[in-house]
Amino acid sequence: MDQIIVHGNGPLKGEIPIAGAKNACLTLMPATLLTDQPLTLTNAPRLSDIRTMTELLQSLGAEATSLQDGQVLAMSSHDLTSQRADYDIVRKMRASILVLGPLLARHGQAEVSLPGGCAIGARPVDLHLKALEAMGAELDLRDGYVHARAPLGGLTGAVVEFPIVSVGATENALMAATLARGTTVLKNAAREPEIVDLAQCLRRMGARIEGEGTGTITIEGVDALHGATHPVVTDRIELGTYMLAPAMCGGEVECLGGRIDLLAAFCDKLDQAGLSVEETPRGLKVARSNGRVRAVDVTTEPYPGFPTDLQAQFMALMCMAEGTSVLEETIFENRFMHAPELARMGAQIEVHGGHATVTGVQQLRGAPVMATDLRASVSLILAGMAAEGQTTVSRVYHLDRGYEHVVRKLRGVGAHIERVREE
Ligand code: EPZ
Repeated sequence: MDQIIVHGNGPLKGEIPIAGAKNACLTLMPATLLTDQPLTLTNAPRLSDIRTMTELLQSLGAEATSLQDGQVLAMSSHDLTSQRADYDIVRKMRASILVLGPLLARHGQAEVSLPGGCAIGARPVDLHLKALEAMGAELDLRDGYVHARAPLGGLTGAVVEFPIVSVGATENALMAATLARGTTVLKNAAREPEIVDLAQCLRRMGARIEGEGTGTITIEGVDALHGATHPVVTDRIELGTYMLAPAMCGGEVECLGGRIDLLAAFCDKLDQAGLSVEETPRGLKVARSNGRVRAVDVTTEPYPGFPTDLQAQFMALMCMAEGTSVLEETIFENRFMHAPELARMGAQIEVHGGHATVTGVQQLRGAPVMATDLRASVSLILAGMAAEGQTTVSRVYHLDRGYEHVVRKLRGVGAHIERVREE
């Protein structure tokens, strides 16, 4: 397994291109199952999760080809040969559950392995299943799979009220509803930019959708969808991650393609911490002059609140802030696994249930640390860039799921970072 070796850095300077959003692409790709015509995605990120979703679509008989060094995904599900998403693929990536709604809506049946939990939590899919049942799906949970069947006449529109906000359940229901007979109303729907991006792509394919980005999405089912070409929205989590690099090391970095509307709550916290965030014609510029950032409290919430996917990275910043900050994680039950690793670098963090209290220190010290999940892995790299001495991050395969070319991008702004094969 590879390791990443980071040496403490001085101020950073330069620009980082931000890729298309992993979490948008992972729901846009299954949308190809809703039509027999070609769906092409541009600005696609080059990530292992995208390759896994490509493998899954191909296992169903869909054509899925990545072109232009992975930035374009050309897909077509004209002739599906299977409606079964096998455990050996689903266990690698939970987002595989997002083929369930489209398969049911267009093909009337699906067998999808239940995704297991993951490091950050149990991650159940009960809300996905309840929404599809409300549209008439008959579901049978057996031998670790969801065996799903739509009525002969297909799915029917329904009013679905989500008890809690769920990004994936909203996406599955939204895709299924585009081909259901009649009207579907999704209440307490997720409002993430990735949902808005999916709705815009589905509309390009002929779907009739209103209200995406609000808590209520209304879909009028149509008989069929046609092909389209759609650009994947900028990855707001990669954006926020790289905005923290100059926040931690000092200097100034321009994140190309960054948009402040994607991360308003996060940028607000950077501002409170004393960082300057400036919109430029090419993206967002973040600068930190000398002196330490200020400690600020954060509570993770569904969009437009502070994103849970930036909690680990922001904690790394708070480890060096002046004062004490409390980070409250309300979305997942076990998303502080980066805390003990940061503590190995001298951070002072106390975790009690869903709260982590961070007392900032003047200087972190490099140490060997271990990545436990995707976002934790990059928070350790950020901490290593700001620490004194060398930090070695192991199990960096987590990183490859969500960050393309992370070493190249950080080296581009002056970081002392390299990737080596573990001896
Ligand atoms: C998506 O996961 C993202 N993944 C996650 O990003 C992100 O952290 C999460 O949304 C929240 O923003 C993708 O888009 C591929 P949820 P998802 O359904 O859809 C509970 C990353 O780092 N829940 O909004 O799985 C669930 O356990 C990843 O890129 C149910 O109880 O998240 C959680 O506590 C990590 N039943 C909460 O809801 C369900 O049926 C929010 O989960 C579904 C979810």
